[in-house]
Amino acid sequence: MKVLIVGGGGREHAIAYACSKSPRVDKLYCAPGNAGIAEYATCVPIGAMEFNKLVTFAKEEQIDLTVVGMDDPLVGGIVDVFEAEGLRVFGPRKNAAILEGSKAFSKDLMKKYNIPTAGYETFDSAEEAMKYLETSDYPIVLKADGLALGKGVLICNTKEEAMDGVKTIMLDKQFGDSGNRIVIEEFMTGREISVLSYVDGNTIKIMSSAQDHKRAKDGDQGLNTGGMGTFSPSPFYTSEVDEFCKKYIYQATVDAMKAEGREFKGIIFFGLMLTPNGPKVLEYNARFGDPEAQVVLPRMKNDIIDVFEACIDGNLDKIDLQFEDNACVCVILASDGYPVAYEKGKLIKGLDNFKNRDGYYCFHAGTSLTDEGIVTNGGRVLGITAKGNTLKEARTNAYEATKWVDFDNKYMRNDIGKAIDEA
Ligand code: AMP
Ligand code: GLY
Repeated sequence: MKVLIVGGGGREHAIAYACSKSPRVDKLYCAPGNAGIAEYATCVPIGAMEFNKLVTFAKEEQIDLTVVGMDDPLVGGIVDVFEAEGLRVFGPRKNAAILEGSKAFSKDLMKKYNIPTAGYETFDSAEEAMKYLETSDYPIVLKADGLALGKGVLICNTKEEAMDGVKTIMLDKQFGDSGNRIVIEEFMTGREISVLSYVDGNTIKIMSSAQDHKRAKDGDQGLNTGGMGTFSPSPFYTSEVDEFCKKYIYQATVDAMKAEGREFKGIIFFGLMLTPNGPKVLEYNARFGDPEAQVVLPRMKNDIIDVFEACIDGNLDKIDLQFEDNACVCVILASDGYPVAYEKGKLIKGLDNFKNRDGYYCFHAGTSLTDEGIVTNGGRVLGITAKGNTLKEARTNAYEATKWVDFDNKYMRNDIGKAIDEA
């Protein structure tokens, strides 16, 4: 069959890698793709938000299945547009992708259906929000309602910081219309875990757990980023945590969406915090995590096309989802200065070192192909990923592999997976 992937980052590279392993796939396309994805797929220069062009392409090329990796097109309704044209597509419809697209929606859903999460209030006016902050406890968390490239969350230690934050989000509109509404949330403490799942509207199947490192600098210092590295599985995702989440969070979310007339088919990514009072939902995403996909998908044993189709057709209960009994670590090589200001266009050397190396992966996030070769083209550039029998071995392997590639202004965290030592 012919498969089209929509997106062009490290996550889509990991999805393309998984699809390329399926004997059912004859031809793979990716729009817009990147220099690394081009190894498995024909990259098509169409943006992820250009729905009409994507539909035309899918019809002309007789694409059998389109897989949407990114949040923006999902929240924007790409699945509805494809379905209306009779095209087969993997991902939630617009009315379900709102689970990620609106924090106010997801918080109200959790409250209504008793799904554990932080206490919160929602405001449409800066004045009301500021009035509320006068009598709040600190620290406190401010969240722009809509999508904000993972940057719309501010943790404020004092009232002054929080007042400034409301101004930044609601009045200065730093995140555009995403800040028309704000969620003000109780600050929680604990370890964070990412749990990705496949959902077919009724059935939910949990993938192996993962842990991200969101801050730019070692020791969880510096600004929030899209994610500087991941490992899977998380040793902190114990059987007790699993049991709790199965009882109170996973199926409850799928059932809640169904009860609201918003049947969810696709990926639900649960951002969980293991608080002293038990696991709570920090956020939902309606897609694979980036760079969680890079450590979870290489460990998945199933044919990913079978799983995508089972979600679309409502047969997920028939799938026996299986993961390898090993571990995987991904270290992001970024451009120095990310997530604020950084240079692009630096030649990347050593990419060939990953050829024919079983258990090692170099997932491209921000790269492009020029006449001189493959160059950096983003803040997060490569996701250097390795497997190991244990988490420690995978971490050693991944850090060893970071030495195989080089480019000017190469930057990485040196403590990805350090938490493993505390487990
Ligand atoms: P989100 O996009 O909602 O996952 O938030 C981004 C990051 O902000 C999370 O990964 C947490 O580290 C942090 N965060 C979000 N909500 C809270 C909260 N209620 N308490 C403490 N930290 C939070
Ligand atoms: N790594 C976090 C995310 O994909 O949102």
